[in-house]
Amino acid sequence: MASRKPFVAGNWKLNGSVELLNEMASSIEAVSNDQSVDVALFVPALLVGESAKLDVVTGVQTVSEFESGAYTGEIQASLAKELGAKYALVGHSERRHIFGESDDVVAQKFVMAQQQGLTPVLCVGETEQQREQNETESVISAQIDAVIDKLGVAGLEQSVIAYEPVWAIGTGKTATPEQAQQVHQFIRAKLASLDEQIAQRLQILYGGSVNEKNSSELFAQPDIDGGLIGGASLKKDAFISICESAKG
Ligand code: PGA
Repeated sequence: MASRKPFVAGNWKLNGSVELLNEMASSIEAVSNDQSVDVALFVPALLVGESAKLDVVTGVQTVSEFESGAYTGEIQASLAKELGAKYALVGHSERRHIFGESDDVVAQKFVMAQQQGLTPVLCVGETEQQREQNETESVISAQIDAVIDKLGVAGLEQSVIAYEPVWAIGTGKTATPEQAQQVHQFIRAKLASLDEQIAQRLQILYGGSVNEKNSSELFAQPDIDGGLIGGASLKKDAFISICESAKG
């Protein structure tokens, strides 16, 4: 099996504060000190500069698909980079479902993030209804193909994928390790059919109600390389223990 480094990322969504960031920074540094796990925080955009100054590996939760111009309120990828961000989430299901971002817009954001030197973390996942109708694989394929159509499979070389079943986000209903592994394996096999090396190197994270109790079992699956953590990333002890569990 390829030796991929585990990666645990917190997604604070529209939560958090300067105080919480300060409280968490040293614990994050301590848990990632031995280099055996990548740890990052996707903080609200207004906290990116502060977070990077505290030496926390930082990401933005979305970026504009536009480079610059008259787009009031948007988040500029180049400025996120300048302030020290390393990663950008693109296509989180809340962006897709609440803010109506299509596969194509998400792919444009992916391209912009990469062009400006950020590593995109492409979020994919099916709704409960799509799962019930056996559409999980086709939905995820379309979400990934939108990026491949623009950049080829090589575009995924400097990126991360996060599989987040929509029905598991913020619901307390986690996919079982077997359910999650099945989809991760599908994603890796799909990419391997295009480029074996890229597929073997790609970190594929699981997200959706991961907590300190279920993380070890999820992360033990062969194609799950860590997690994207929402609610539990706002609690220092829970988040650090999830990071520890990714070390195996
Ligand atoms: P959750 O969120 O861990 O609170 O389910 C995960 C996410 O939305 O990234």
